[in-house]
Amino acid sequence: MDYQPILDKIRKEIEVYAHEGKQADYIPALARVNPDQFGLCLNTLDGKTYRLGDSATKFSIQSISKVFSLAIALSIMGKDLWQRMAKEPSGSAFNSLVQLEYEHGIPRNPFINAGALVSADVLLSNLDDPEAFYLNFVRTISGNPTIDYSDEVAQSEQSCSYLNASIAYLLKHHGNLHNDVNQVLHLYCRMCSLEMSCEDLSRAFMAFAKSNEPFSHAGVNLTISRVKRINAIMQTCGFYDEAGEFSFLVGLPGKSGVGGGIVAIYPSRYSIAVWSPRLNAKGNSIMGMKALELFTSETEESIF
Ligand code: DON
Repeated sequence: MDYQPILDKIRKEIEVYAHEGKQADYIPALARVNPDQFGLCLNTLDGKTYRLGDSATKFSIQSISKVFSLAIALSIMGKDLWQRMAKEPSGSAFNSLVQLEYEHGIPRNPFINAGALVSADVLLSNLDDPEAFYLNFVRTISGNPTIDYSDEVAQSEQSCSYLNASIAYLLKHHGNLHNDVNQVLHLYCRMCSLEMSCEDLSRAFMAFAKSNEPFSHAGVNLTISRVKRINAIMQTCGFYDEAGEFSFLVGLPGKSGVGGGIVAIYPSRYSIAVWSPRLNAKGNSIMGMKALELFTSETEESIF
Protein backbone atom coordinates (compact mmCIF):
# COMPACT_ATOMS: atom_id res chain seq x y z
CA MET A 1 0.00 0.00 0.00
CA ASP A 2 1.24 3.55 -0.75
CA TYR A 3 0.61 5.34 2.54
CA GLN A 4 1.71 8.83 1.43
CA PRO A 5 -1.61 10.03 -0.06
CA ILE A 6 -3.41 8.87 3.10
CA LEU A 7 -0.91 10.69 5.29
CA ASP A 8 -1.19 13.88 3.22
CA LYS A 9 -4.96 13.77 3.57
CA ILE A 10 -4.69 13.21 7.34
CA ARG A 11 -2.36 16.22 7.67
CA LYS A 12 -5.11 18.41 6.19
CA GLU A 13 -7.85 16.82 8.29
CA ILE A 14 -6.08 17.37 11.61
CA GLU A 15 -5.41 21.06 10.96
CA VAL A 16 -8.69 21.93 12.74
CA TYR A 17 -7.09 20.71 16.00
CA ALA A 18 -3.88 22.74 15.50
CA HIS A 19 -4.57 25.19 18.32
CA GLU A 20 -6.36 22.93 20.79
CA GLY A 21 -4.65 22.16 24.10
CA LYS A 22 -1.26 23.38 25.25
CA GLN A 23 2.20 21.99 25.82
CA ALA A 24 3.24 20.57 29.22
CA ASP A 25 4.25 23.39 31.53
CA TYR A 26 4.90 21.60 34.83
CA ILE A 27 8.42 21.02 33.50
CA PRO A 28 9.58 24.64 32.88
CA ALA A 29 11.84 23.75 29.92
CA LEU A 30 8.94 22.09 28.09
CA ALA A 31 6.80 25.21 28.46
CA ARG A 32 9.33 26.99 26.21
CA VAL A 33 8.83 24.63 23.23
CA ASN A 34 7.03 26.07 20.20
CA PRO A 35 3.65 24.28 20.47
CA ASP A 36 2.76 24.69 16.80
CA GLN A 37 4.78 21.85 15.37
CA PHE A 38 3.71 18.52 13.93
CA GLY A 39 5.76 15.63 12.65
CA LEU A 40 5.13 12.03 11.65
CA CYS A 41 7.27 9.15 10.45
CA LEU A 42 6.14 5.69 9.38
CA ASN A 43 8.53 2.81 8.73
CA THR A 44 7.17 -0.38 7.22
CA LEU A 45 8.68 -3.82 7.57
CA ASP A 46 9.02 -4.01 3.82
CA GLY A 47 11.55 -1.18 4.00
CA LYS A 48 9.58 1.96 3.12
CA THR A 49 9.66 5.25 5.03
CA TYR A 50 6.95 7.92 4.88
CA ARG A 51 7.19 11.35 6.49
CA LEU A 52 5.07 14.39 7.27
CA GLY A 53 6.03 17.85 8.55
CA ASP A 54 8.63 18.17 11.32
CA SER A 55 9.56 14.49 11.22
CA ALA A 56 13.28 15.19 11.69
CA THR A 57 12.91 17.66 14.58
CA LYS A 58 14.14 16.32 17.92
CA PHE A 59 11.87 16.65 20.96
CA SER A 60 11.79 15.47 24.55
CA ILE A 61 10.68 11.83 24.57
CA GLN A 62 9.66 11.92 28.27
CA SER A 63 7.57 8.83 29.15
CA ILE A 64 8.38 7.06 25.89
CA SER A 65 11.72 6.47 27.65
CA LYS A 66 9.90 4.08 29.99
CA VAL A 67 9.67 1.49 27.20
CA PHE A 68 13.45 1.54 26.77
CA SER A 69 14.12 1.36 30.51
CA LEU A 70 11.64 -1.51 30.83
CA ALA A 71 13.41 -3.39 28.03
CA ILE A 72 16.72 -3.03 29.87
CA ALA A 73 15.29 -3.83 33.33
CA LEU A 74 13.54 -6.93 31.96
CA SER A 75 16.76 -8.11 30.33
CA ILE A 76 18.54 -7.71 33.66
CA MET A 77 15.96 -9.27 35.96
CA GLY A 78 13.85 -11.49 33.73
CA LYS A 79 10.49 -12.39 35.23
CA ASP A 80 11.69 -11.48 38.74
CA LEU A 81 11.00 -7.88 37.73
CA TRP A 82 7.30 -8.65 38.21
CA GLN A 83 7.88 -9.10 41.94
CA ARG A 84 8.60 -5.37 42.05
CA MET A 85 5.85 -4.04 39.78
CA ALA A 86 2.57 -5.30 38.36
CA LYS A 87 1.27 -5.22 34.78
CA GLU A 88 -2.25 -3.95 35.21
CA PRO A 89 -3.69 -0.71 33.83
CA SER A 90 -3.83 1.86 36.61
CA GLY A 91 -6.84 3.89 35.48
CA SER A 92 -5.07 6.80 37.16
CA ALA A 93 -2.85 9.66 36.08
CA PHE A 94 0.79 8.84 35.30
CA ASN A 95 1.99 10.60 38.45
CA SER A 96 -0.69 9.39 40.86
CA LEU A 97 0.40 8.51 44.40
CA VAL A 98 -2.79 7.12 45.85
CA GLN A 99 -2.74 3.57 44.42
CA LEU A 100 0.88 3.14 45.39
CA GLU A 101 -0.02 3.73 49.02
CA TYR A 102 -2.79 1.17 49.29
CA GLU A 103 -0.92 -1.33 47.10
CA HIS A 104 2.05 -1.17 49.50
CA GLY A 105 4.69 0.26 47.19
CA ILE A 106 4.16 -2.09 44.21
CA PRO A 107 3.50 0.09 41.13
CA ARG A 108 0.58 -0.97 38.94
CA ASN A 109 2.72 -1.10 35.80
CA PRO A 110 6.11 -0.04 34.38
CA PHE A 111 4.71 2.96 32.48
CA ILE A 112 3.33 5.01 35.34
CA ASN A 113 6.03 7.12 37.00
CA ALA A 114 6.22 4.79 40.04
CA GLY A 115 6.98 1.80 37.81
CA ALA A 116 9.56 3.69 35.77
CA LEU A 117 11.31 4.81 38.97
CA VAL A 118 11.64 1.12 39.91
CA SER A 119 13.07 0.37 36.44
CA ALA A 120 15.60 3.20 36.97
CA ASP A 121 16.49 1.64 40.33
CA VAL A 122 17.13 -1.74 38.64
CA LEU A 123 19.46 -0.06 36.12
CA LEU A 124 21.33 1.72 38.94
CA SER A 125 21.77 -1.50 40.92
CA ASN A 126 23.05 -3.55 38.00
CA LEU A 127 24.98 -1.35 35.57
CA ASP A 128 28.34 0.38 36.08
CA ASP A 129 27.28 3.48 34.19
CA PRO A 130 23.49 3.34 33.67
CA GLU A 131 23.31 6.73 31.89
CA ALA A 132 25.91 5.73 29.32
CA PHE A 133 24.41 2.24 28.93
CA TYR A 134 20.90 3.58 28.36
CA LEU A 135 22.11 6.17 25.84
CA ASN A 136 24.12 3.58 23.97
CA PHE A 137 21.15 1.22 23.85
CA VAL A 138 18.83 3.89 22.41
CA ARG A 139 21.44 5.06 19.90
CA THR A 140 21.90 1.47 18.73
CA ILE A 141 18.23 0.50 18.56
CA SER A 142 17.40 3.66 16.58
CA GLY A 143 20.56 3.63 14.47
CA ASN A 144 21.32 7.27 15.28
CA PRO A 145 24.57 7.97 17.18
CA THR A 146 23.72 11.68 17.57
CA ILE A 147 20.84 11.09 20.01
CA ASP A 148 21.57 12.65 23.40
CA TYR A 149 20.17 13.78 26.73
CA SER A 150 19.03 17.36 27.22
CA ASP A 151 20.83 18.75 30.27
CA GLU A 152 18.40 21.66 30.29
CA VAL A 153 15.24 19.51 30.36
CA ALA A 154 16.68 17.02 32.87
CA GLN A 155 17.75 19.78 35.28
CA SER A 156 14.50 21.64 34.77
CA GLU A 157 12.46 18.56 35.66
CA GLN A 158 14.60 17.54 38.60
CA SER A 159 14.51 21.05 40.07
CA CYS A 160 10.76 20.74 40.59
CA SER A 161 10.08 17.00 40.74
CA TYR A 162 8.29 17.16 44.09
CA LEU A 163 5.63 14.66 43.05
CA ASN A 164 8.11 12.14 41.65
CA ALA A 165 10.20 12.59 44.82
CA SER A 166 7.10 11.77 46.89
CA ILE A 167 6.52 8.64 44.80
CA ALA A 168 10.18 7.67 45.16
CA TYR A 169 10.12 8.10 48.96
CA LEU A 170 6.94 6.01 49.20
CA LEU A 171 8.65 3.28 47.13
CA LYS A 172 11.69 3.55 49.39
CA HIS A 173 9.51 3.28 52.50
CA HIS A 174 8.12 0.01 51.17
CA GLY A 175 11.60 -1.34 50.37
CA ASN A 176 11.01 -1.14 46.62
CA LEU A 177 13.88 1.27 45.87
CA HIS A 178 17.34 -0.03 46.69
CA ASN A 179 19.34 3.06 45.76
CA ASP A 180 19.48 6.61 47.04
CA VAL A 181 16.26 8.47 46.13
CA ASN A 182 18.09 11.42 44.57
CA GLN A 183 20.22 9.14 42.42
CA VAL A 184 17.08 7.35 41.17
CA LEU A 185 15.34 10.65 40.42
CA HIS A 186 18.41 11.93 38.63
CA LEU A 187 18.65 8.90 36.32
CA TYR A 188 14.87 8.93 35.73
CA CYS A 189 14.92 12.63 34.73
CA ARG A 190 17.94 12.05 32.47
CA MET A 191 16.22 9.18 30.67
CA CYS A 192 13.02 11.23 30.20
CA SER A 193 15.05 14.17 28.82
CA LEU A 194 16.36 12.20 25.84
CA GLU A 195 15.73 14.04 22.57
CA MET A 196 14.66 12.09 19.51
CA SER A 197 12.78 12.84 16.31
CA CYS A 198 9.79 10.96 14.90
CA GLU A 199 12.24 9.37 12.46
CA ASP A 200 14.43 8.13 15.35
CA LEU A 201 11.49 6.82 17.37
CA SER A 202 9.84 5.08 14.47
CA ARG A 203 13.12 3.33 13.64
CA ALA A 204 13.77 2.40 17.28
CA PHE A 205 10.32 0.85 17.65
CA MET A 206 10.81 -1.33 14.58
CA ALA A 207 12.38 -3.70 17.13
CA PHE A 208 8.91 -4.02 18.70
CA ALA A 209 7.17 -4.40 15.33
CA LYS A 210 9.50 -7.13 14.09
CA SER A 211 7.93 -9.88 16.11
CA ASN A 212 10.00 -12.64 14.50
CA GLU A 213 13.44 -10.98 14.55
CA PRO A 214 14.84 -10.64 18.09
CA PHE A 215 16.96 -7.53 18.80
CA SER A 216 20.04 -8.02 20.93
CA HIS A 217 22.66 -5.51 22.06
CA ALA A 218 25.09 -5.46 25.01
CA GLY A 219 22.99 -7.87 27.04
CA VAL A 220 19.62 -6.30 26.21
CA ASN A 221 17.72 -9.09 24.58
CA LEU A 222 14.35 -8.31 23.05
CA THR A 223 13.32 -11.91 22.58
CA ILE A 224 10.09 -12.75 20.78
CA SER A 225 8.45 -13.43 24.12
CA ARG A 226 9.65 -10.13 25.66
CA VAL A 227 8.49 -8.12 22.65
CA LYS A 228 5.07 -9.76 22.96
CA ARG A 229 4.89 -8.81 26.64
CA ILE A 230 6.14 -5.25 26.24
CA ASN A 231 3.67 -4.68 23.40
CA ALA A 232 0.87 -6.06 25.58
CA ILE A 233 1.74 -3.59 28.34
CA MET A 234 1.89 -0.73 25.80
CA GLN A 235 -1.58 -1.75 24.65
CA THR A 236 -3.08 -1.83 28.15
CA CYS A 237 -1.03 0.81 30.00
CA GLY A 238 0.72 3.02 27.43
CA PHE A 239 -1.66 5.95 27.85
CA TYR A 240 -2.43 5.81 31.58
CA ASP A 241 -6.05 6.74 32.24
CA GLU A 242 -6.57 7.14 28.50
CA ALA A 243 -5.33 3.65 27.58
CA GLY A 244 -8.87 2.42 26.88
CA GLU A 245 -9.61 5.44 24.70
CA PHE A 246 -6.39 5.01 22.69
CA SER A 247 -7.15 1.30 22.17
CA PHE A 248 -10.68 2.17 21.14
CA LEU A 249 -9.75 4.97 18.74
CA VAL A 250 -6.45 3.71 17.32
CA GLY A 251 -6.31 -0.01 18.08
CA LEU A 252 -2.53 -0.39 18.28
CA PRO A 253 -0.02 -0.81 21.12
CA GLY A 254 1.65 2.54 21.75
CA LYS A 255 3.32 4.87 24.20
CA SER A 256 2.99 8.59 24.75
CA GLY A 257 5.10 11.24 26.45
CA VAL A 258 4.33 14.73 27.75
CA GLY A 259 6.76 16.13 25.18
CA GLY A 260 3.90 15.45 22.75
CA GLY A 261 5.34 12.32 21.14
CA ILE A 262 3.44 9.09 20.53
CA VAL A 263 4.83 5.92 19.03
CA ALA A 264 2.68 2.97 17.99
CA ILE A 265 3.40 -0.32 16.29
CA TYR A 266 1.52 -2.75 14.13
CA PRO A 267 3.18 -6.14 14.75
CA SER A 268 4.85 -7.52 11.61
CA ARG A 269 3.78 -4.48 9.59
CA TYR A 270 4.98 -1.05 10.71
CA SER A 271 6.13 1.38 13.37
CA ILE A 272 4.74 4.93 13.40
CA ALA A 273 5.76 7.97 15.45
CA VAL A 274 3.91 11.28 15.67
CA TRP A 275 4.71 14.45 17.56
CA SER A 276 2.86 17.62 18.37
CA PRO A 277 3.37 19.39 21.72
CA ARG A 278 -0.21 20.46 22.48
CA LEU A 279 -1.68 17.96 24.95
CA ASN A 280 -5.13 17.00 26.19
CA ALA A 281 -6.05 16.87 29.88
CA LYS A 282 -4.56 13.37 30.25
CA GLY A 283 -1.15 14.48 28.97
CA ASN A 284 -1.39 12.98 25.47
CA SER A 285 -0.83 14.82 22.18
CA ILE A 286 -4.11 15.96 20.63
CA MET A 287 -2.98 16.09 17.00
CA GLY A 288 -0.90 12.95 17.49
CA MET A 289 -3.83 10.90 18.74
CA LYS A 290 -6.10 12.27 16.04
CA ALA A 291 -3.57 11.49 13.28
CA LEU A 292 -3.22 7.90 14.49
CA GLU A 293 -6.97 7.44 14.81
CA LEU A 294 -7.43 8.64 11.24
CA PHE A 295 -4.53 6.51 10.04
CA THR A 296 -5.90 3.19 11.30
CA SER A 297 -9.43 4.20 10.26
CA GLU A 298 -8.51 5.25 6.73
CA THR A 299 -6.16 2.33 6.10
CA GLU A 300 -8.67 -0.01 7.74
CA GLU A 301 -5.66 -1.69 9.36
CA SER A 302 -5.56 -2.35 13.06
CA ILE A 303 -4.80 -5.39 15.16
CA PHE A 304 -8.49 -5.72 16.08
O1 DON B 1 7.83 12.23 35.32
C1 DON B 1 7.23 12.99 34.57
O2 DON B 1 6.26 13.62 34.94
C2 DON B 1 7.75 13.15 33.15
N1 DON B 1 9.17 13.07 33.13
C3 DON B 1 7.18 12.12 32.22
C4 DON B 1 5.66 12.09 32.20
C5 DON B 1 5.08 11.69 30.89
O3 DON B 1 5.67 11.84 29.85
C6 DON B 1 3.67 11.21 30.90
N2 DON B 1 3.23 10.88 29.57
N3 DON B 1 2.32 11.17 28.91
